[in-house]
Amino acid sequence: MEKPDRHILVCASFRAAGTPQGVCHKKGAFNFVQYLETELMDRDELGTVMVSTTGCLKVCDRGPAMVIYPEGKWYGGFESEDDIDEILDALEEGEGADQFLLAE
Ligand code: FES
Repeated sequence: MEKPDRHILVCASFRAAGTPQGVCHKKGAFNFVQYLETELMDRDELGTVMVSTTGCLKVCDRGPAMVIYPEGKWYGGFESEDDIDEILDALEEGEGADQFLLAE
């Protein structure tokens, strides 16, 4: 197995029974997953990136939420593809997109 350079974990609000419920799911997290996967194919600067969906990341009041490793940056409150682009642009520049940054 080849280890990816980065891993993006996107909250999809999965609960123990496997059913997505919660803020991130209701705010379109699945659409952002699809957009991330498409957008990342065009961004060589970020290396190989795996995108995975997760259960609740416990920051529901700031959702939708995602975590990017190895940087360990937590992002939330993104609402559009433009917001995702802003986060990825900042990542390419080695910075955080401050308006969406929850923790680092
Ligand atoms: S449902 Fe996404 S952080 Fe809780």
